[in-house]
Amino acid sequence: MRLDRFLCDCGLGTRSRIKKDIRAGLVTVNGACVKSPEQHVNENSDRICYNGQPCRYEKYVCYMLYKPAGVISAVKDRHDKTVIDLMGDAARDDLFPVGRLDKDTEGLMLITNDGALAHDLLSPAKHVEKEYECLLACPIDERQINQLEQGVDIGDKTLTKPAKVRVIDGQKITLTITEGRFHQVKRMFSAVGNEVLYLKRLRMGALMLDETLEKGGFRRLTGEETESIYR
Ligand code: URA
Repeated sequence: MRLDRFLCDCGLGTRSRIKKDIRAGLVTVNGACVKSPEQHVNENSDRICYNGQPCRYEKYVCYMLYKPAGVISAVKDRHDKTVIDLMGDAARDDLFPVGRLDKDTEGLMLITNDGALAHDLLSPAKHVEKEYECLLACPIDERQINQLEQGVDIGDKTLTKPAKVRVIDGQKITLTITEGRFHQVKRMFSAVGNEVLYLKRLRMGALMLDETLEKGGFRRLTGEETESIYR
């Protein structure tokens, strides 16, 4: 891989800043100063130092991003801004969002380059919980709660798996589901005679949205968070 891409993937800064630093002589490869960002390096065997410090290449990386409304859960799009566009220069070429949130849904989006992790988090067989905050058009009632907790017919071959409902106030609730069908939360509320006005994902498995992030902001997962999602 190119030297500037390698350093970017190590999380050392934006591509343009790294290119400048390489040209300024801050980078060595196997002890020799290299001033060309295009130089190819072997991430497994070359010893690469930035500002005198050895760099450690990470094969897999994970970020949490606070998805704002109006942005789509894709890598690239011809019309809309994507969650990967929000990461700008910090994004490695191999990153993708884990699953989809609707364009108008906000909240926790996991971004990674680890396909096996994404598969495990999304597979219905793994029962990973996804918790959503929902603002409803009408106050939720006991009948709706019972239906959601038992499983509802949203027009698919099978009922939805039992969900958990936590009422915050009449119209504000959290719904926890273990599947990820298309528009699932909105369709579940529509099936019980209600309507979702606002939707935000708060949690995937043990990983909670960091509410100190600004909408559109992102950060690497901490060591503890990374452990919790691989567990
Ligand atoms: N369910 C929905 O209806 N929309 C989302 O974005 C996520 C879950």
